[in-house]
Amino acid sequence: MLALEETDLLVPEECAHHHGYATTLAEQVEVRGVVVHGAKLGRAIGFPTANMKLGGCCRLAPGIYAVRFRDGFGTVRNGVASFGRRPTVVDDGELLLETYVLDYAGDLYGQTCQVTFIEYLRPETKFDGLEAMVQQIDLDVVMAREVLRKRKISLGDEITARGRKK
Ligand SMILES: Cc1cc2nc3c(=O)[nH]c(=O)nc-3n(C[C@H](O)[C@H](O)[C@H](O)COP(=O)(O)O)c2cc1C
Repeated sequence: MLALEETDLLVPEECAHHHGYATTLAEQVEVRGVVVHGAKLGRAIGFPTANMKLGGCCRLAPGIYAVRFRDGFGTVRNGVASFGRRPTVVDDGELLLETYVLDYAGDLYGQTCQVTFIEYLRPETKFDGLEAMVQQIDLDVVMAREVLRKRKISLGDEITARGRKK
């Protein structure tokens, strides 16, 4: 397992060159960082996200991932995360990790949280508008649930990238 600090991210090489869907990561990737305030558009479109800045030289392939999310109190939940520049909403945005935590509605600002990347779902896309992006995020959520269900990862489990840790 690779536990990485926010400024020293690792990269699943196969992802960097991948243009399809749902790729198992070669190694488990974990990042830790403080949840910061974003533009708050996510709330308006129905997908509030926990935003983390991961520093400059990040080698993780941008894209959408099924993840596990550990909050500052140690509670672990499933999530779907976007690691990218949000080309649909901003030009030349900074690289941000934004996690939509599934079945959760609390406040995570200021907490030091941890994201474990489980599976790469798709590349980041520039959509024609918010509606098209929201439709895709709906599908991402379905896909992430399925991926995590197949890996038999349920709430509270410690996980590895390949499945459940005893
Ligand atoms: C599951 C998921 C998938 C996303 N996919 C894309 C994408 O393909 N293209 C894009 O421009 N932004 C994508 N985003 C980022 C959204 O644009 C961003 O979360 C939204 O603008 C709200 O940002 P804010 O919380 O900073 O306001 C995605 C976000 C999530 C949670």
